[in-house]
Amino acid sequence: MNIIVVGTGYVGLVSGACLAEIGHTVTCVDIDQKKIDALKNGKIPIFEPGLETMVMNNVQSGHLRFTTKLAENFADAEVVVIAVGTPSRPDGHADLQYVYAVAEEIGAQITDYTVVVNKSTVPVGTGRAVEDIIRKTYSGEFAVVSCPEFLREGSAVDDFMHPDRIVIGTRNDRAAKVMLDLFAKIKGEKLVTTVESAEIIKYASNAFLATKISFINEIAHLCERAGGDIEEVAYGIGLDQRIGPKFLSAGIGWGGSCFPKDVRALEQIGGLHGYDFRLLKAVIEVNNHQRMHFVEKMKEHFGGSVNGKRIAVLGLAFKGNTDDVRESAAIDIISALVKEGATVSAFDYEAVTNTKQVLADVPVDYAVDPYAAVAGADAVVIATDWPQFKDLDWKRISQTVGTPVVFDGRNMFNPQRMRSEYGFTYYSIGRPSATVA
Ligand SMILES: NC(=O)c1ccc[n+]([C@@H]2O[C@H](COP(=O)([O-])OP(=O)(O)OC[C@H]3O[C@@H](n4cnc5c(N)ncnc54)[C@H](O)[C@@H]3O)[C@@H](O)[C@H]2O)c1
Repeated sequence: MNIIVVGTGYVGLVSGACLAEIGHTVTCVDIDQKKIDALKNGKIPIFEPGLETMVMNNVQSGHLRFTTKLAENFADAEVVVIAVGTPSRPDGHADLQYVYAVAEEIGAQITDYTVVVNKSTVPVGTGRAVEDIIRKTYSGEFAVVSCPEFLREGSAVDDFMHPDRIVIGTRNDRAAKVMLDLFAKIKGEKLVTTVESAEIIKYASNAFLATKISFINEIAHLCERAGGDIEEVAYGIGLDQRIGPKFLSAGIGWGGSCFPKDVRALEQIGGLHGYDFRLLKAVIEVNNHQRMHFVEKMKEHFGGSVNGKRIAVLGLAFKGNTDDVRESAAIDIISALVKEGATVSAFDYEAVTNTKQVLADVPVDYAVDPYAAVAGADAVVIATDWPQFKDLDWKRISQTVGTPVVFDGRNMFNPQRMRSEYGFTYYSIGRPSATVA
């Protein structure tokens, strides 16, 4: 099948590469000339395991190409996928300007039956709006399908190729058939729903996962106050098959390009339709509090202030295996620490460049490796669950730091080991409080 994917960010580039990998001919379009030039020169703008090789192979085999011009291959395309950003507006609503701009462009190009697939995360009703925009300039037959994307950054290629489900939102039989053909080589349940249901499934899925994390973080607070170990508690809860073990990791909360904006947007969508989502308001509040509570723990350790302290922050990305720092807890924590008078040294395996952009006005010493970051520090903060942190030489770190104090925001380590084997004063989330070895 000939396919156009509009937008070559995390979702567009991964979707384009994976659809090419399963045999389709894909043209990826982006308005960002620099991005397209880089892609044409074999440079992948994001860090995503397995993506570079897949892009290279499919460019070489002629299944994948890049352009800034939607018009270029439009006439041959049976399917046009919209995968542009839907960021938060200041009021929390999803900003649909990019989706609507693409719809206008499609309206200007379309001359024959085309299935327009919306992969961007959009409020319920957007599919209809996209249809109306195209209909303004084209009176022939076409379909707008909602096919939300559930991939996770850090495992995006694998998630796209092995999804739990593919949601196909359309009541049009012809369009549903095209979509089932499009994904014929990908296993996983294909669920055909109305456009509206598909749009809601995406937001509801993200909001549910965020709720699960905020919930376990609330229970972690109880563990800290009343005794109890959140790891044991989460394991015990997760054994219940109605609940399941995933997304029950206590820590400094959820972040990233999707959960924060999607939970806020769903809350706003409720309002637009006359419903007050009380639960989602609490989920957001718990998450915001989680980051600042962690900073409070540090202040408490230092007798009420971190002023003048040197804090090493390990991890900047919102989670391990990505370079994405959008709404990363590390960013808020660093900003708060610097505001409180601390000096921050920081290290991340992939996210330093993006952090430098986001924290352009915040003084941070970026270190070339984790050992350089912790040298002479008054405390080490683990802000991202990069698996590599587990393999660091923590004995060496305990001897390099100024004082051996670790604030583990991701519960990555065994408290007993950190205390007795390495001699750290070790703080984590919802586990028995720190004791000096
Ligand atoms: N990032 C994720 O993990 C993820 C997962 C699932 C769903 N989503 C959703 O998918 C959508 C895209 O997210 P993303 O993270 O890939 O965004 P992104 O910001 O990484 O990429 C969006 C791309 O669209 C391009 N673009 C904007 N307007 C354009 C236009 N008129 N024509 C061509 N290109 C245009 C931008 O230049 C950019 O390269 C969002 O709605 C997001 O919520 C994201």
